[in-house]
Amino acid sequence: QSQPLFLVLSLALGYLCGSIPFGLVLTRMFGLGDVRSIGSGNIGATNVLRTGNKLVAALTLLGDVLKGTVPVLIAWNWGEPAAALAGLGAFLGHILPVWLGFKGGKGVATYLGVLLGFAPLGVAVFAANWIVVAYLFRFSSLAALVATVAVPLVYLLLGNMPAAALSGTLTVLVYIKHKTNISRLLSGTEGKIGEKG
Ligand code: G3P
Repeated sequence: QSQPLFLVLSLALGYLCGSIPFGLVLTRMFGLGDVRSIGSGNIGATNVLRTGNKLVAALTLLGDVLKGTVPVLIAWNWGEPAAALAGLGAFLGHILPVWLGFKGGKGVATYLGVLLGFAPLGVAVFAANWIVVAYLFRFSSLAALVATVAVPLVYLLLGNMPAAALSGTLTVLVYIKHKTNISRLLSGTEGKIGEKG
């Protein structure tokens, strides 16, 4: 099943789905302007929330999650390596969309969507960590940075190596994309959840 052709197809399918910039499309559709010109400039749900429109932020979150889940579920038909590559593709599509000159999002919602399709237990680990950190500190970025470390660690402890490898790879990329957030967290200038940009 996991023939090279299907592996390449899975990666490409994932990339195509992942590269749909829901935050940008939805904010424009709802007349909220260009989300890249407010707050952190990111196209993700956290920054869309800075427009003050909770519905559009929730729809962005949903779209960015599902574009990670759908290609993974399709690619499962061609085996586990194909599903993992579809997840990697979706994540890369989100952070490096060709349509936006490779200037994409930070990947957190799509990370969650990939987990949902590939290893759903990780969703619970992610959600528990994200919610606790976000509740305590009100920083979406910090919550994501903690949650995305917890997931591969739990899979390592459980001995689920494919899930540990996939989530660990995505975690490294999440950290790279959060470079400016990490500097802002360290300097005390990071915006809190829902704070207008
Ligand atoms: O999910 C993205 C979040 O971790 C950071 O978003 O807009 O605050 O940079 P933002």
